[in-house]
Amino acid sequence: QDHYCVLGNPVEHSRSPWIHARFAELTGQTLHYGRQRIELGQFAAGIAALQAEGYKGCNITVPFKFEAAELAQHRSPRAQLAGAANVLSLRADGLHADNTDGIGLVKDIEDNAGRPLAGEDVLLIGAGGASAGVLGPLLEARPARLVVVNRTHSKAVDLVARHQALADRCGCRLEAPAIEALDGHYGVVINATASSLSGAEVPVPASVLRPGSLALDMMYGPAAQGFLNWAAAHGAQGRDGLGMLVEQAAEAFALWRGVRPPSAQVLAELRALL
Ligand code: ATR
Repeated sequence: QDHYCVLGNPVEHSRSPWIHARFAELTGQTLHYGRQRIELGQFAAGIAALQAEGYKGCNITVPFKFEAAELAQHRSPRAQLAGAANVLSLRADGLHADNTDGIGLVKDIEDNAGRPLAGEDVLLIGAGGASAGVLGPLLEARPARLVVVNRTHSKAVDLVARHQALADRCGCRLEAPAIEALDGHYGVVINATASSLSGAEVPVPASVLRPGSLALDMMYGPAAQGFLNWAAAHGAQGRDGLGMLVEQAAEAFALWRGVRPPSAQVLAELRALL
């Protein structure tokens, strides 16, 4: 049977093995999916070991998504634009890097939460790896306007500059104002910062929300709670990152196996389990 795994540090609490095992069961695929912790500085060696053992692919999580994109001999356009990869396919002609985080987020918002992004005003908070991974696919969903804000303004400016040509092609107004200059209301607000983790305040004013706005934190579990509380307190519809997690996995599974798993069912099962 074919072998896959998730690589990261830490990786002990990753839900990916459970998700992929369930996908395999439900699609009748025979595969094994494990988890491997890699020490910092050992990423390339870890991948070489997987190749030697005949692994077919792996998912990459924190903090190796940048290294994964760099190490690969082949990069999909979206992995190239993100500068980060969460999926590696180990093929005879080398490593193929892809990034399904963004399409996973878009599918969760549009299909699971039922909120089409086309024509929408979207606010993306953060300009680190998590934001970089999703900005391209968000633009391709053709919102009318996408605003990126970040504590360190220059990083938002850089990220937006790198995506400006794509935004123009998609007919989306893409902007990176300083947080102090942020105004207006947004139908969809996405938190791609680690601010709740440290118990810090949500780094934007609540005036960005309007009643019924979708306010999504890319984290799940206790790490998302601060943001979800903030959303609820201001009349927004809160959503955690569990759906994005399942959808990015479904996209990876489809890439590897050529079969689309029933992601909505698996998301419902996982939610009931947690
Ligand atoms: P990741 O890969 O998870 O995105 P990262 O690249 O370190 O990790 O980026 C973390 C993001 O969270 C950044 O946008 C960071 O803001 P800075 O660029 O100013 O560092 C943001 N962040 C982390 N802690 C924060 C806090 N307490 N308040 C606001 N933003 C925070």
